Amino acid sequence: MHTDLLDLPDLPQTATLMEQYWAFRASRALLAAHQLGFFEALREPGTAADVASRCQTDPAVTEKLLTVCCALEVVERDGDTFKLTPLARALLLKDSPRTITGTLNHAESLWWFWTGLPEVVRTGKRESAPSPPEPFASHRHEHWIWAMHGIAANGVAQWIARNVDLSGRSRLLDVAGGPGTYSIVLCQRFPSLTAVVWDLPETIAIAQQVIERFGMAERIGVQAGNWDTDEFGEGYDCLLMSNILHGAGSRAGMKLAKARRALRPGGLLIVHDFLMNDDRTGPLGAALFNLMVGAYTEGEMLSVIRSAGFVDVQLIASDDRRGAGLITAVQLAED
Ligand SMILES: C[S@@+](CC[C@H](N)C(=O)[O-])C[C@H]1O[C@@H](n2cnc3c(N)ncnc32)[C@H](O)[C@@H]1O
Repeated sequence: MHTDLLDLPDLPQTATLMEQYWAFRASRALLAAHQLGFFEALREPGTAADVASRCQTDPAVTEKLLTVCCALEVVERDGDTFKLTPLARALLLKDSPRTITGTLNHAESLWWFWTGLPEVVRTGKRESAPSPPEPFASHRHEHWIWAMHGIAANGVAQWIARNVDLSGRSRLLDVAGGPGTYSIVLCQRFPSLTAVVWDLPETIAIAQQVIERFGMAERIGVQAGNWDTDEFGEGYDCLLMSNILHGAGSRAGMKLAKARRALRPGGLLIVHDFLMNDDRTGPLGAALFNLMVGAYTEGEMLSVIRSAGFVDVQLIASDDRRGAGLITAVQLAED
């Protein structure tokens, strides 16, 4: 069959698809520059040879990776000298308040899941994917929790604080609150609020560091617990469940029943999670998360929360770019 390539029908999605299929190159370059320590090495500006010497890398290839970093707008070049951009100083240094270094370390671990995806789909078993190499394997939990800080601190927590009204409320329980960043931002936004970050002991150790770092220890306490065995507490007038109701495998019913018991009548439940649309056609962020971990559709999530006995269950905001939604509901009466 003869096909005239000059006369093909216009398919507007072509350029997007051609970018998506190898978007991994930019991702891999950024993760490699972080893993090799380029950004920490550039706290002081330097040449490619300086960076190579500080990071024990090959000078010629270092120069090429730094050129990619310039194109990614995390490094600037002035002749032979490279320096961090304000974006990199804000996000890519370990001690920055909104650091995403944990997020990049976590992405490095997730890389191996995505690399093994064909085998995972063939077998139906997540364990079919290769394990990440050291040091990522043994620091997985720590990287995961710091990853949540990087995500929350760079827009997501602010988005929640803009969309939820907690004025007049005084006791927030942040169930499986990870690094505590949502509690920090909500307490900063609502002056009468205090919070408790409730999570596994190894996570609480990190939350304490983050809460201290932001000078919020007077208003935010911590409590170690395990949702398999422990109740969440009682007497709270608002309760956040962020990224812990990841679809059918997440035992959402059990967690929501404990949440109901922890809230006093009139208490507000806030759920933040990935949400697919009811047609199961996207958004992309939610569909990808559903493939890796699991996610409810919007309708399923509303129904699961209603079935747990909450009333006035409403989707109050959604962010299609991330594929996430924010839901509030009310605990009307004690059991
Ligand atoms: C995806 S993170 C969400 C953290 C935070 N809520 C956020 O949105 O950034 C899941 C959290 O669940 C906690 N977690 C996992 N298993 C748990 C368990 N059995 N009991 C209590 N917390 C648990 C983890 O320590 C982690 O902080």
